[in-house]
Amino acid sequence: MNSLTGKVALVTGAGMGIGYALCRALAEAGATVALNDIDAERATQAAEQLNQQLQARRVHAYAADVADVNAMRAIVGQIAARFARLDIAIANAGITLFGRFLEYEPEPFDRLLAVNLRGSFFTAQAAAREMIRRQIEGRIILMSSVAGVQAIGGLGAYGISKAGLRMMARTLAYELGAYGITVNALAPGATLTERTAQETANYEQDWRAVTPNRRVAHVEDIAAAALFLCSEGARHINGQTLIVDGGWTNQSPLPLGY
Ligand SMILES: NC(=O)c1ccc[n+]([C@@H]2O[C@H](COP(=O)([O-])OP(=O)(O)OC[C@H]3O[C@@H](n4cnc5c(N)ncnc54)[C@H](O)[C@@H]3O)[C@@H](O)[C@H]2O)c1
Repeated sequence: MNSLTGKVALVTGAGMGIGYALCRALAEAGATVALNDIDAERATQAAEQLNQQLQARRVHAYAADVADVNAMRAIVGQIAARFARLDIAIANAGITLFGRFLEYEPEPFDRLLAVNLRGSFFTAQAAAREMIRRQIEGRIILMSSVAGVQAIGGLGAYGISKAGLRMMARTLAYELGAYGITVNALAPGATLTERTAQETANYEQDWRAVTPNRRVAHVEDIAAAALFLCSEGARHINGQTLIVDGGWTNQSPLPLGY
């Protein structure tokens, strides 16, 4: 296993779901983890729960809305000052606001972009500034989606934001490579979380049926890919999007009803 002992990581949108699993995997690998969520109570509870499991106080809650650039800048500064470094930043927070193009309204569109794109962009910027200031060859990971690779009905606005994150990885990789910082994106396929389990009546069965590997992703599948991107072995991978979807995008069949 790749040890992350001595490293400090920030994960946004991590009170539950994929982000929570990312925090657990990073902390299990030895990292000190700053767990962000917009929901302060959820962030605190999640950090406490992880610390109990780890039998160590390695996860720390930081509540803020990632769309609030000043709040995120302040948090990143606090983390770097408190732990004297920042090695890993995973801009995981993202929202899914469904809606067909012809009916979509400006308010959900603006919020979606504020969280998914603006939030990720400025979180990555704040983290990169700290890494550069402290001469740390850090790792930044952006959370894209297969919806940013393939068009999916009702997920147009979301898909645009997730495609933007793939381009963000390429652009930031280009600008930050000289500092030894890598920036990559992960593009999960349908992943079973507390939220997606409520999305449709038979989420797991529906997606299993249309996925070549005959399973949906579990949060640990995404966390394992993130750990790899944080490992020494991934030091020469930069600006890429790693698709973690059990082969779904090779053909991209949708369950009925989409
Ligand atoms: N679950 C999937 O199937 C799937 C597939 C592909 C990509 N993704 C992406 O992975 C990421 C995590 O997905 P998930 O399903 O685990 O998320 P989720 O919907 O379960 O949310 C996780 C946490 O994010 C927090 N959050 C929401 N908005 C926030 C904000 N503005 N600032 C800070 N925290 C905020 C929520 O309070 C929640 O605790 C998202 O970017 C999502 O788009 C998920």
